[in-house]
Amino acid sequence: MTKICCIGAGYVGGPTMAMIAKKCPQVQVTVVDINEARIAAWQTDDLPIYEPGLLDVVKEARGRNLFFSTDVDQGIKDADIVFVSVNTPTKTFGEGAGCASDLQYWELCARRIKEVSTSDKIIVEKSTLPVRTAEAMERVLHAGDNPVHFEVLSNPEFLAEGTAIEDLECPDRVLIGGHQTESGQKALQALVDIYATWIPRERILTTNVWSSELSKLTANAFLAQRVSSINAISALCESTEADVADVAHAIGTDSRIGSKFLKASIGFGGSCFKKDILNLVYLCETYGLTEPANYWRSVVTMNEYQEARFVTTMLHSMFNTIANKRIAVLGFAFKADTGDTRESPAIKVCRKLASEHASIVVSDPKAMDNAKLEMPELADDIEFQEDVYKACDGAHAVAVLTDWKQYKDLDFQRIYDSMQKPAFIFDGRNMLDHDALYKMGFEVYSIGKGR
Ligand code: NAD
Ligand code: UGA
Repeated sequence: MTKICCIGAGYVGGPTMAMIAKKCPQVQVTVVDINEARIAAWQTDDLPIYEPGLLDVVKEARGRNLFFSTDVDQGIKDADIVFVSVNTPTKTFGEGAGCASDLQYWELCARRIKEVSTSDKIIVEKSTLPVRTAEAMERVLHAGDNPVHFEVLSNPEFLAEGTAIEDLECPDRVLIGGHQTESGQKALQALVDIYATWIPRERILTTNVWSSELSKLTANAFLAQRVSSINAISALCESTEADVADVAHAIGTDSRIGSKFLKASIGFGGSCFKKDILNLVYLCETYGLTEPANYWRSVVTMNEYQEARFVTTMLHSMFNTIANKRIAVLGFAFKADTGDTRESPAIKVCRKLASEHASIVVSDPKAMDNAKLEMPELADDIEFQEDVYKACDGAHAVAVLTDWKQYKDLDFQRIYDSMQKPAFIFDGRNMLDHDALYKMGFEVYSIGKGR
């Protein structure tokens, strides 16, 4: 029986390993983490992350061939294949602060693997890493006179939160990078065989390690670039009476452009887009590639502009003062169908509203716990209210910041009736029926539509 250990039981490690365990009953999968609370939660039906369909997948395999443990060393020791899926946040200190990847968690894992391993292993980079990280890892793993051989593969993850189960079950592609050596190709084949259990072989792409590492950063950069591009156009639409949804549709029908990822918004959030682009920027700078670095940095700059101008629009339309005005923030997660609030645009919006002394009430169907932790400095000032109608009661303005489907079906007449007048609504996701809202009497502001 092949034994897999995955270090890191987060948004990637948990769902990906649950899917492998579900699809490959002949493989034993153990997910280990130093976070005891997280591991404990994976063992209950109240999972540590909200992801549609995840619980069913976990329940099918848990206790059969899927295990969760805090015994990191034992997990590594027993495994033939070790996935490393720990966090790789942006460095906040020293050289490259604010841009480079903080690789301390990754390196700690490499050192632990080296320390406790007594048999040869395949080490799989699941975390998103700077190109050529595998080289550094190999040096750590093989330092000294260790008789154990480690073969490092890159297998970046492309799942998106909120659709992780669909993405894992039926991915556009799986990417595996391995060395062009006999042992490299043997290891690569072993991993291909696991994925090939449920993924058509032609969707399993194999490359060298460096192409695989760089493809992950590039994919996220391209996706984020599309959002920033349409958001840049949204600003122009607001000044010209063009409608960004019409423009997105018109350009998206060109098969060379494609229709996906052209939805104008308050900006992209999530733990990865910004971090991965900045990582790419740092890599370009490291190699002396100033223009490519500046090009990619502008994607983040554009995103910051979009977030900031949303609050500016709120402020200007509400007579340049929002002090003590009750503002209901609907949605705090960085996108729908997740409780994840990391780098959510809602954080910046709330902070800016707070700096204008607005009275903020936050509502979200799944992200309330995380929302409370995101802004500790504002914890006493912000009201958290799960019931949307209570959140909107007496409000001067409603700001829709997450594209939760249920917000479309709210009784907006009821909300309008309970609000201060004029009643403002700021649709940061362009998801509501604006004509209907106008007719009710709302002052409606959206993204990329002339007033
Ligand atoms: P996460 O923070 O949710 O999970 C990482 C886990 O690793 C944490 O639970 C942490 O306790 C654990 N960990 C850290 N150091 C450890 C150690 N030394 N030993 C054992 N456990 C340790 O992060 P995530 O969102 O799952 O992201 C993981 C990686 O995957 C990142 O590199 C990210 O860029 C990449 N990624 C994330 C997504 C996503 O949707 N979140 C998608 C694709 C790729
Ligand atoms: C993204 C990628 O889509 C995944 O392929 C990748 O694996 C992952 O990052 C990662 O590496 O972490 P995720 O951040 O979970 O996934 O979610 P997305 O659907 O990409 O959305 C990211 C942000 O962009 C959200 O805030 C979303 O609301 C915003 N967005 C997306 C738009 O504003 N407009 C769009 O058209 C699409």
